[in-house]
Amino acid sequence: MPAVLLASLAVCAADSEKPAGASAAVGRAQGVDPGKRIYREGVLLSGEPVRALVQAGDELSGARAACATCHGRSGLGYAEGQIIPPAISGPILFRPRVIERRELYAARREGPGTRPAYTEETLARAIREGVDARGTQLDPPMPRYLLGDGDMAALVSYLRALGAAASPGVSDEEIHLATVVTAGVPPARRKAMLEVLSAFVEAKNTQTRHEERRARSRGALQVEREQRAYRRWTLDVWELTGAPETWRTQLEAHYAVRPVFALLSGAGAGSWAPVHEFCGEMALPCILPNTDLPGQGSDPFYTLYFSPGLPLEARVLARYLRDSGETAAGTWLQVYRDEEVARAAAAALRSALGGVAARLRDVRLEGPPPSADFWRETLRREVPAVLVLWLADPDLGGLEGLASSPPSRISAVYLSATLVEKPFSSLPQALRPLARLVHPFGLPEVQQSRLDPTRSWLRSRGVEITDLRTQANTYFAARALGEALMHLAGNFSRDYLMEKLEHRLASAPWASVYSTVGLGSGQRFLSKGAYVVCLEEKPHARLVAVSDWIIP
Ligand code: HEC
Repeated sequence: MPAVLLASLAVCAADSEKPAGASAAVGRAQGVDPGKRIYREGVLLSGEPVRALVQAGDELSGARAACATCHGRSGLGYAEGQIIPPAISGPILFRPRVIERRELYAARREGPGTRPAYTEETLARAIREGVDARGTQLDPPMPRYLLGDGDMAALVSYLRALGAAASPGVSDEEIHLATVVTAGVPPARRKAMLEVLSAFVEAKNTQTRHEERRARSRGALQVEREQRAYRRWTLDVWELTGAPETWRTQLEAHYAVRPVFALLSGAGAGSWAPVHEFCGEMALPCILPNTDLPGQGSDPFYTLYFSPGLPLEARVLARYLRDSGETAAGTWLQVYRDEEVARAAAAALRSALGGVAARLRDVRLEGPPPSADFWRETLRREVPAVLVLWLADPDLGGLEGLASSPPSRISAVYLSATLVEKPFSSLPQALRPLARLVHPFGLPEVQQSRLDPTRSWLRSRGVEITDLRTQANTYFAARALGEALMHLAGNFSRDYLMEKLEHRLASAPWASVYSTVGLGSGQRFLSKGAYVVCLEEKPHARLVAVSDWIIP
């Protein structure tokens, strides 16, 4: 690990031991580049908010005045609506802006759209007075900043360094990527994901060769511009073994062997937190891993998830129970395996229920699947009105014993559609009328056709469909990365990649298994809600929504 990173980790660790308040704030200010705080957070060296004037004498301050709000963390421009703030990373500011056109033999260096290179003086003038390097007034969306000399010096030196160092993992010909598979992932799931990724990489690299050939036949400038974007992909598989506490060291070791530009997809059995933390600290993008328990690090910027996973389902369920009046009667019993993901779901339900959580009892399972005797005994003891089962298919077999005489006091059995993959075969028939699944995916009838293009792609690449959920999501992740990389136009900045993903996924034209997929600025979950569905047996077995799409 680079020494600089070690130093900043040491600062973070020291920080967290201090009590919150003034001394912690000072500690942080010392650890973080002050220019970066002005740029990203809108906080001055003094700890006061940055202030700036905008049109009509209005004032912006703090985070709203932070440069990153408009220019992006990357400094490479971040279009929001009509206004397109220009790129202001160091290499771009400190060189002249010229107009390159295909039909022109040489680039145009004067006239509209061009400007000379900034100097530190003209840059300070642009930031304070809104006059660019050519002496032209900048348009009003660019605020006029009230910055003292010390703050200005810190900001300018940050801008100079911004984007100046090449991101690791990219060479002139290749982009190195890796995918993480954690301990405990079922072999079939691992295989399903890896097959899609290797098929995608192969297809991508074949296409890249064609594009290069075509570009070369189109003339010099175009070749140069496009080759900047085309790179062969290489994909390493980083297998994490043993206890989660050891994953950090393993991730560092993999990274040391071959640094990568981004982590693509991935599969996790427990919490994704160790990978999430690593990516946050290394400023390493992690694109849409297959996990039911996302991490929640201090800097969530670099990891993009499909959904908040099981904790989201628990919050949806709490909301549904409240709204459907189920909170009125009896006790509730939640049964879950003593495993990370299920424990997180149970804890999330308890906390989302708030005041009424006192009525919720917990039963934690270990060992073999619970028997019919276990269920009979447990239900006799607890007499719940509602059962919540954070259990997967193999654990539902014992409920068979209850099928002949379902306990009459139970009004509903809630399950997770993520954990229960085959409700019609795993749940005993007599219990099915009581079963409700929290279903964070698109409804089957809609999803069938939305996933058709993905299915045909998989088939065309010779990938057998064994686990459509994993395969469709993996394909979605790879597509998303591929498109975003093309739109970097040769600026291989990891921050820019995250911004492009944010932007382009706001309306992705291809489908994942999740229903609504959209990403607002700064958001890191593509899907944010779930349905509650019931099992309809006739005329044919299908899942039918009993709630709207619930966003808790
Ligand atoms: C509210 C949005 C917004 C914020 C916040 C903002 N800018 Fe800008 N900035 C713009 C826009 C829009 C332009 C383009 C104006 C034009 O083309 O006339 C611009 C232009 C610039 C330029 C001129 C670039 C060139 O190529 O001539 C610089 C330099 C700049 N901004 C730096 C900053 C810095 C540094 C900060 C933070 C201290 C900042 N901006 C904050 C919107 C913003």
